[in-house]
Amino acid sequence: MCGIVGYTGPHEASPILLAGLRRLEYRGYDSAGVATLDGDRLALRKKAGRVRVLEESLLEQPARGSCGISHTRWATHGPANDRNAHPHVGGEGPGSVAVVHNGVIENHAALRQGLEAVGVEFRSQTDTEVIAHLIARELGDGDDLFDAVNRVLPRLEGTYGLAVVSPRCPGQVVGAKLGSPLVVGLGEGEHLIASDPSAIAPHTARVAFLQDGEVVRLTPDDFEIRHRERGPITPRIDRLDWSPDLAELGAHAHYMLKEIREQPDTVRDACRGRLRRGEGTAAFGGLNMTPRQLRRVRRVVLVACGTSWHAALVGEYLIERLASLPVEVEYAGEFRYRNAPLDDRTLVFVLSQSGETADTLGALRESKRRGHPTLAICNVVGSTIAREADGGIYLHAGPEVGVASTKAFSAQVTVLTLLALHLGRLRQLSFPDGLAVVDAIEGVPDALARVLAAEPRIIEAAERLAAARSVLFLGRDLHFPVALEGALKLKEISYIHAEGYPTAEMKHGPLALIDPETPSVFIAPRGSLHAKTLSNVEEVRARMGPVIAVGTEGDEELARLSDHFLPIPDMPEVVQPLLAVVPLQLLAYHVARLKGCDIDKPRNLAKSVTVE
Ligand code: AGP
Repeated sequence: MCGIVGYTGPHEASPILLAGLRRLEYRGYDSAGVATLDGDRLALRKKAGRVRVLEESLLEQPARGSCGISHTRWATHGPANDRNAHPHVGGEGPGSVAVVHNGVIENHAALRQGLEAVGVEFRSQTDTEVIAHLIARELGDGDDLFDAVNRVLPRLEGTYGLAVVSPRCPGQVVGAKLGSPLVVGLGEGEHLIASDPSAIAPHTARVAFLQDGEVVRLTPDDFEIRHRERGPITPRIDRLDWSPDLAELGAHAHYMLKEIREQPDTVRDACRGRLRRGEGTAAFGGLNMTPRQLRRVRRVVLVACGTSWHAALVGEYLIERLASLPVEVEYAGEFRYRNAPLDDRTLVFVLSQSGETADTLGALRESKRRGHPTLAICNVVGSTIAREADGGIYLHAGPEVGVASTKAFSAQVTVLTLLALHLGRLRQLSFPDGLAVVDAIEGVPDALARVLAAEPRIIEAAERLAAARSVLFLGRDLHFPVALEGALKLKEISYIHAEGYPTAEMKHGPLALIDPETPSVFIAPRGSLHAKTLSNVEEVRARMGPVIAVGTEGDEELARLSDHFLPIPDMPEVVQPLLAVVPLQLLAYHVARLKGCDIDKPRNLAKSVTVE
């Protein structure tokens, strides 16, 4: 999940590379480095720690040159220290080669042994360093870096997104992709390469997403792509669909808070152009399936990881309720190896904000291998999953930078609500019932604004949670996935252990955990199961367990039973998950803030898990 940025053009490379790394730092942040071509030598600077540590070292020792590469690391081999930071270098003097890499070289040990046997001395414990030495040994006098890289790649087993420079080839950046994302930015008189388009957006909106097996050579005025089997490639040029300032932090304290507060617009953007009020339904442009084909679907499988899996679980309840279709939700890491017995009337959706999650990509490829129509619900245009799917639905949520996913969850649940409506109206869902869903969805942005306005009460509840060692999150029906999501938010940014459960499960074990030090967070808006949930709250109260409750405005009974009552507007059940999740996102955010945690870059995690 590392961040890669490369640049070649008329400007000094270092400032551009550093600005790009700052935008990608959410992808991995235990060390960072740059290598620029400064005449006939490499200028190499790399440091353990955040990008700002590297910036400080560059102030003291600038790296000159208008061509270079850079990297921010999420460690896979070897601890976070200066030596293991990228770029890694092979060779000497004008023939030296600098490499930055995202992925895992699975045969690195054998390659390292072979190199050490011929006298190569390694400086780091990383798998990446073998690539630098192999290319340097291929790069003889007068040789071309692009050709040298193409000769080395077949010897690598595993995954890579690479960028390579050498003083031997001034002004050239060579990139190669297999299993880890790489995108090329096509500027005027300059070219960039990065592991994520957000690093490119300030320079150009014209991008070319590299595909597996492709190698690119960039110079300031030109670029060339070659596939290792198919030879020269004319790439598809995409236009980024968001402006660079959308990825800026602005006046917000953290990206996560910014993205939580963007959610009214997120829901609007996910709906834009898709609601068909006159027919009481929703429509999508990219499913690439006719109504007749969708009518024949007898089962839906939703496959994802993490927060996207929780959104998929909300989708299960919605599609079953509105379309009477059986739905299974699968963890991608399980589905890809489980060989699940699916018949030929099964439609598979994979959900991924980044569109690069390795397990989800693997599940997509497995589903296609078995002949199922496989669609993607993604946020990043042109991402690997979006490109390889048979069709799909974009979230249009704009860049999500905070490692803890928030607005992407809301966009995914919104899209799944529209999908459930669409599938339902192809079946038995009546026009009035469909129209009621359209009305409910259209009311969500304003309702979300009211939820966000209740932040002061959520901060009070956070002050209560900050000292907890363990927290239970409980919800019934559509709110069980919301409970899981609330627990994940809290644990991944505040490091407090938290578990989500179906409320009814409390008495089958978790109730044993309840004591005055173990708070329970109930998601209990008014609805068909409200009364049952109140009795569960009583059971916790009877054991002196602190209670925080998300409930419908005016629910005095629930408020009376709660130490902290977090109100949400009274809305139809089908859209309540979109409202109920926001107090939980803010709760996790403020607990982490009170604990002084690094909210946008929580320890051990990365934004896009592109390794298995
Ligand atoms: C959620 O807050 C986490 N960052 C993580 O669980 C994430 O949802 C998961 O890795 C899936 O990412 P994706 O949606 O980009 O595939």
